[in-house]
Amino acid sequence: MTDALRSVGDVHRARNLAQRLLVDLPERWRHTIGVARRAEMAAATVGPRSEGEILLTAAWLHDIGYAATLHDTGFHPIDGAHHLETTGWPSRIVALVAHHSAALYAAQTRGLTEKITRFPREQSRVSDALTYADQTVAPNGRVINLEQRLADMLRRHGPDSPNAAAHQLRTPLLRAAVVRVQHRLAMVDHLPSAA
Ligand SMILES: [Fe+2]
Repeated sequence: MTDALRSVGDVHRARNLAQRLLVDLPERWRHTIGVARRAEMAAATVGPRSEGEILLTAAWLHDIGYAATLHDTGFHPIDGAHHLETTGWPSRIVALVAHHSAALYAAQTRGLTEKITRFPREQSRVSDALTYADQTVAPNGRVINLEQRLADMLRRHGPDSPNAAAHQLRTPLLRAAVVRVQHRLAMVDHLPSAA
């Protein structure tokens, strides 16, 4: 199988796996569908089509670690990445899931630094677009802006949560990634269309 065919296949496989794992979490599944749609829209900012397929695969898989069957550390980016790693997914997808939306900072506040840093942290147009997609879709799948998303996160997790403790360090990185993608989307909109 060619790389191109394999990556298209991975997108379908990722969708099916996420749907199966999140069957008992309908709101998380709605959020995942919203993030995948948003990632499709942002795929124009990541370069070649193969990069867009990596983005979309990671978008479908990014929250599978919420599935009760995958619970290990209790931190969904690591639990999701661990499952993908042990079931043979490409290492780049595994690492994108582990580090999605600047997960490193929330991992640190949970004492999970060692467990997350064994996955390489990609900083690229793809990781930016994944952050953009995740941080502009509400838990119920609706599109919202980053500030609404951050406020909602603090409300849901509570002021004493590890997420709230990571908030100060993580937020500037999330804002910067979202702004970069918005800028890239604006540039794409202004490109002359192909004949
Ligand atoms: Fe998410």
